[in-house]
Amino acid sequence: MPQATFRFPRGFLWGTATSSHQVEGGNSGNQWWLWEEGGHTLHRSGRACEWWNGRWKEDFDRAAEAGQNAHRFSIEWSRVQPKPDRWDEDAIEHYRQMARGLYDRGMTPLVTLHHFTDPIWLTEQGGWEQEGVVARFEAYVRRVVEALKDYVTLWCTINEPNVYALSGYVSGAFPPGKHDLKLAMQVMANMIRAHAAAYRAIHQIQREARVGYALHYRPMVARRAWSPLDRLMRALRYQGVNMAFPSAISEGVMRSPVAKVRLPEAKGTQDYLGINYYSQDTVWFNLRKPGELFTDSGFPKDADLSDTGFIANIPEGLFATLKWAAHTYPDLPILITENGVEDADDHMRPRYLAQHVHQVWRAINFNWPVKGYFYWTLVDNFEWERGWSQRFGLWALDPETQKRTRRPSADLYAEICRENGLSSEMVARYCPEVMEKLFP
Ligand code: GAL
Repeated sequence: MPQATFRFPRGFLWGTATSSHQVEGGNSGNQWWLWEEGGHTLHRSGRACEWWNGRWKEDFDRAAEAGQNAHRFSIEWSRVQPKPDRWDEDAIEHYRQMARGLYDRGMTPLVTLHHFTDPIWLTEQGGWEQEGVVARFEAYVRRVVEALKDYVTLWCTINEPNVYALSGYVSGAFPPGKHDLKLAMQVMANMIRAHAAAYRAIHQIQREARVGYALHYRPMVARRAWSPLDRLMRALRYQGVNMAFPSAISEGVMRSPVAKVRLPEAKGTQDYLGINYYSQDTVWFNLRKPGELFTDSGFPKDADLSDTGFIANIPEGLFATLKWAAHTYPDLPILITENGVEDADDHMRPRYLAQHVHQVWRAINFNWPVKGYFYWTLVDNFEWERGWSQRFGLWALDPETQKRTRRPSADLYAEICRENGLSSEMVARYCPEVMEKLFP
């Protein structure tokens, strides 16, 4: 067997990603809590991973001991600003301690300012449908950045604005559960405005800041490559899902299949590109999906599927994503702000992890500036409308007892982080089934 190691550049960031509502517990001040109370989710977030009660400390210890040198976490707006005219200094201090906790453990914090949740008072004012949100978001961002700037220079304004808008306003799986493509695009435009305002505010407060957002990027292929209809549907869906934010940032114009909005203030407002990649879609024409512009999507029949079929293991899709990123924004650093798979018994995760890390290494060897990788996620957490049915953690969690149990993938990832690379020997031990693919 050949012995080899895929080595990464010095200073590469290896971490995991989390978000406030999914780990904190007791977030009764946001719109997701109400959505859960209304019975729209499989389970409720409840106590989640009890990070608000202090368990972030033990989990940060786990991450640090496992060789991770970075961590991405998010701030809960509804805790920082529980009422439009009230700022909670204790909550702000809590997040400052978390940022400091990473700093003290020698880990680089990447802080997300908005990850799907909104204060209930904001929802009552029309949420992201109203342009008034832009100034409110900026005020909140200023407050947080002022408080955390001693420990944080890497900021992510908004997580997956495309998923927020499409799930909340097209599929209806997220609150407010509407089905209105036009409104989705209005929300998206306001998110772009808010991102641009936050970008400038953060730089005003902190000159050395590096500011970006996290794009959920879905590479797509037409189901029947020969079919003009499938190809057209692929193009439409690709544009609708992926392109609104990137087009606004490249050209100052938000382009989508249903709207074209001039947003000159957004042009150039990113210092790095954050990419969340999970899987690649196969797209086709479906007459029964008028609300989605007659497009439908799925995975190939022989795909390597996760527990609930939510994710297909298609590592080449990550390579295609990085290629798109490097060609669209030459010279802009790229961070993989999320990548991971749900897998309760950890039979698939080791190969998913190894195969995706391999694709990152391939990309770096084309001199594409990938600077970090954040696995989703550290400990099993609350997965939105899918509740606790999906287990993405390197550590398993029993939400009742709060007991954490290390999965083999945590060890594999620890070896990758410590070695700053992936070796044939690791693959032979953790996922020999892909040995031939990775080390032919
Ligand atoms: C992403 C999202 C995360 C997490 C992950 C896995 O879209 O940003 O919050 O839920 O998917 O489902």
